[in-house]
Amino acid sequence: MTATYPTVLVIGATGRFAGLVVPELARRGARLRALIRDPAKVDAAQGSGISEAVIGDLRNRESLDEAVRGVDGVFHIGPALAPDEAALGITLIEAARRAGVRKFVFSSVAQPTNTRLKNHASKIPVEDALYSSTLDYTILHPVNFMQNIASAWPSIIETGVFSEPFPKTAKVARVDYRDVAEVAAIALTSDRLSYATLELAAEGRPSREEIATLMSEALGRPIVAGEPSFEAWAKAARHGYSDRQLALLSKVHEHYALYGLGGNSLTLRAALGREPRTLRSYVEELAQQAA
Ligand SMILES: NC(=O)c1ccc[n+]([C@@H]2O[C@H](COP(=O)([O-])OP(=O)(O)OC[C@H]3O[C@@H](n4cnc5c(N)ncnc54)[C@H](OP(=O)(O)O)[C@@H]3O)[C@@H](O)[C@H]2O)c1
Repeated sequence: MTATYPTVLVIGATGRFAGLVVPELARRGARLRALIRDPAKVDAAQGSGISEAVIGDLRNRESLDEAVRGVDGVFHIGPALAPDEAALGITLIEAARRAGVRKFVFSSVAQPTNTRLKNHASKIPVEDALYSSTLDYTILHPVNFMQNIASAWPSIIETGVFSEPFPKTAKVARVDYRDVAEVAAIALTSDRLSYATLELAAEGRPSREEIATLMSEALGRPIVAGEPSFEAWAKAARHGYSDRQLALLSKVHEHYALYGLGGNSLTLRAALGREPRTLRSYVEELAQQAA
């Protein structure tokens, strides 16, 4: 970076995942600006380490121009399952280019070339816009987030069942998003990960049966793996997704049912310079919170 302590714009800073990038950047001395849609969330963002908030929206070009003005780097994660996700990413990259931003980190998805999944395919034009720019980029390809399990945790504790709507034997690579956040922060505060596209996965490809065993060991009582229908799972999970978003998500789970999800920990280990966080330790943390 040009500055020792760069100014970084974080998109999604009030969210579950980009929110984890904020403390990693703050720890490295970056000055942080956030694009925030809801003014009511500004105080919470400032409490987490954001020093400047621009009230705006990825769909509002003027607010993007204001948000990128004077920053050295941008962290971007696309809103989940949005129909215009590609256009939003491209518009932000254009604003960054116009403003002379040097570094852009895009939290994409593992296997964006799986175009049968629209939410994967929608990342491709955003990546292409970076490859076809003079920005210094780092593109992150994380597999399934371990933090998804946290959303299900209260129900796991209550029912003793860990349910996802695909076979309990399907092998799905997972990653702790805190590790992804750390890689993003390294990329935004040093040149070590310049022009890298990185698959990010923890070690192994655990089935839900294996995860339920980890949960049983951590809690000291049996947890079993459930196999609900997609409809029953979506109703219980209460994500607040529209029918269109749920249709996209059901395709992801159909893919997991047929093929699982591949992922290799090699690049995450190299990017972090340490062992990635494990699913066992993630489950143990959840269990300790429940105790
Ligand atoms: N879950 C997984 O296992 C997984 C795996 C790989 C990749 N991914 C990808 O990760 C992303 C996850 O997204 P998420 O939404 O769940 O993440 P999130 O970190 O919870 O972020 C959503 C954030 O984006 C903000 N946002 C949404 N629409 C916006 C807009 N129009 N303008 C400005 N900000 C906006 C939200 O703001 P508000 O606070 O105002 O709502 C929120 O802070 C998706 O792109 C998905 O494809 C997920």
